[in-house]
Amino acid sequence: MKVLEADGIVQVFEGREVLAGLDLTLGQGEILGLLGANGAGKSTLLKILSGMQRPVSGRVRFLGKPLSEGYPGSLARMGVSINEPVFYESLSARENLEIDLAYLSLANAGHRAVESAGISQLLEKVGLTADSATAVGRYSMGMRQRLALARCMGHHPDLYLLDEPLNGLDPIAIGQLRDSLRNLAAQGSAILFSSHILSEVLHTADRVMVIAGGRVSLRASVPELLSKGQEGAEQTLIKAMEG
Ligand SMILES: Nc1ncnc2c1ncn2[C@@H]1O[C@H](COP(=O)(O)OP(=O)(O)OP(=O)(O)O)[C@@H](O)[C@H]1O
Ligand SMILES: [Mg+2]
Repeated sequence: MKVLEADGIVQVFEGREVLAGLDLTLGQGEILGLLGANGAGKSTLLKILSGMQRPVSGRVRFLGKPLSEGYPGSLARMGVSINEPVFYESLSARENLEIDLAYLSLANAGHRAVESAGISQLLEKVGLTADSATAVGRYSMGMRQRLALARCMGHHPDLYLLDEPLNGLDPIAIGQLRDSLRNLAAQGSAILFSSHILSEVLHTADRVMVIAGGRVSLRASVPELLSKGQEGAEQTLIKAMEG
């Protein structure tokens, strides 16, 4: 069974067709990189796939069922981070995670409560242990990105939808995030992430999908792209982004 299936997704804003009929599928353990120029519709697509925004037409199925079925339980099986993450600025990372995870264990009846050992582990995974008691209002952009990732990992989701998770991360953190995503995929999670950093998408994803003019302009496996070498692969992606 596919984790995520989308057919014929159309979105229109102010009379303008931003997505003009997009299809995608994502299986267990797969990492799909989503590429496209500024304004191509990546964030819009991620919002639709997460159930946060309704498309004008098209269908999204998650774990074999329409998104709207099984709500809210099925949506709680996703880990979603789209746009700038919002936190309680005066509270620490640990306190923010305690609140998020308390919400999750309240919402998922029967789901085990996440104890503080779990929170320490999450903070460790994203490299925030040393700063876990600092108010998030004093965090840098990259630290906020790390916390956003920790927030959507706490309930071991089947699907991650991540909008530009590499934004603001230093090269060390990018490497750590790549390892984290690969580990999550190896444990069976499906991951869809958008990024403008071509080299990193080629490093992390199994497959890529490029959006241009509201349509998919390229679908390719990463090994297939890299058969032309790193530079050739990046050229192919840029050409597809230009539509
Ligand atoms: N709620 C909205 N109302 C009107 N227009 C919108 C809305 N959301 C997005 N758009 C428009 O839809 C288009 C796609 O936006 P989207 O944010 O999905 O692009 P993106 O690919 O994520 O771009 P970026 O790389 O800059 O993040 C843009 O032209 C944007 O202005
Ligand atoms: Mg965007």
